[in-house]
Amino acid sequence: MSTTRHTIVTMDERPDLIDPAQNLPSAAWPTFMMQDKIVERHWMKIYDQYPEYQFALLESDTQRIVAMGNSVPLEWRGDPKELPAGGIDWILPAVFENPPPSGDTCRCLFALQIVVDPGLRGRALSGAAVQAMLSIGRNRGCRSLFAPVRPNQKHMYPLTPIERYIRWTTDEGLPFDAWMRVHARLGAEVVGVCEESMRISGTVAEWEDWTGLTIPESGEYIVPLALTPVLFDKEKDEGLYIEPNVWMHHIIKPD
Ligand SMILES: CC(C)(COP(=O)(O)OP(=O)(O)OC[C@H]1O[C@@H](n2cnc3c(N)ncnc32)[C@H](O)[C@@H]1OP(=O)(O)O)[C@@H](O)C(=O)NCCC(=O)NCCS
Repeated sequence: MSTTRHTIVTMDERPDLIDPAQNLPSAAWPTFMMQDKIVERHWMKIYDQYPEYQFALLESDTQRIVAMGNSVPLEWRGDPKELPAGGIDWILPAVFENPPPSGDTCRCLFALQIVVDPGLRGRALSGAAVQAMLSIGRNRGCRSLFAPVRPNQKHMYPLTPIERYIRWTTDEGLPFDAWMRVHARLGAEVVGVCEESMRISGTVAEWEDWTGLTIPESGEYIVPLALTPVLFDKEKDEGLYIEPNVWMHHIIKPD
């Protein structure tokens, strides 16, 4: 598949690109975001079992990776009203451990992440990456793309409840949040909040290591790049971050 300036390659075609593509998220995410135990348990299975849904966007001239994306298919009833409070931490076990009951289901695509090369941000590559994900889903008979979207400016408003934040709009009536806006411009609708998309827990010492902060006493702390405060309990020696995301739904129309 190819657009004028970019080529979409999937990892079944180019397994040699799995490692270089994975370097993008490793560089993009803050350390604490890489500590979700459910994600850790399942991540490499997405490449083993569904390489055709993992992609890189290559610059056609240079063949360098400019963006990458991960998604997984799931036979599911496809009713946005039934989306759970879990996001990423629901999708992976649903795909690899406890599939939803079969019956009146259709093939849906669930987004896991899209990452643009940090040196190439602000050049409208993210929309091209979402379109790549949609076109992979379309080619494989998926009728919907459900994305637990991480509102990428929410970290600047960590005290605002996500239910309020996602209702903020621009003068044009589009979402205030830039990453939600990319999805909305491509036709996606907000269909709910996943309050517990990811659960990240660690000892106080681990959190101090991940964030560079010192945590002198129990309480809620604002951690850079976290979307909500992180709760620390010194007696239990635990820091707990529950990341909320917003479910957005793209209907995938056949060609
Ligand atoms: C989120 C991400 C994919 C956006 O990619 P991008 O290529 O930088 O974004 P684009 O150039 O396509 O711009 C998309 C929108 O974001 C806005 N934007 C881009 N950089 C911005 C910045 N630094 N601050 C505020 N808005 C910004 C753009 O103006 C555009 O919005 P508009 O056209 O409606 O005004 C990219 O920043 C990224 O990879 N982030 C790390 C991983 C991540 O958060 N992924 C998404 C969740 S899985």
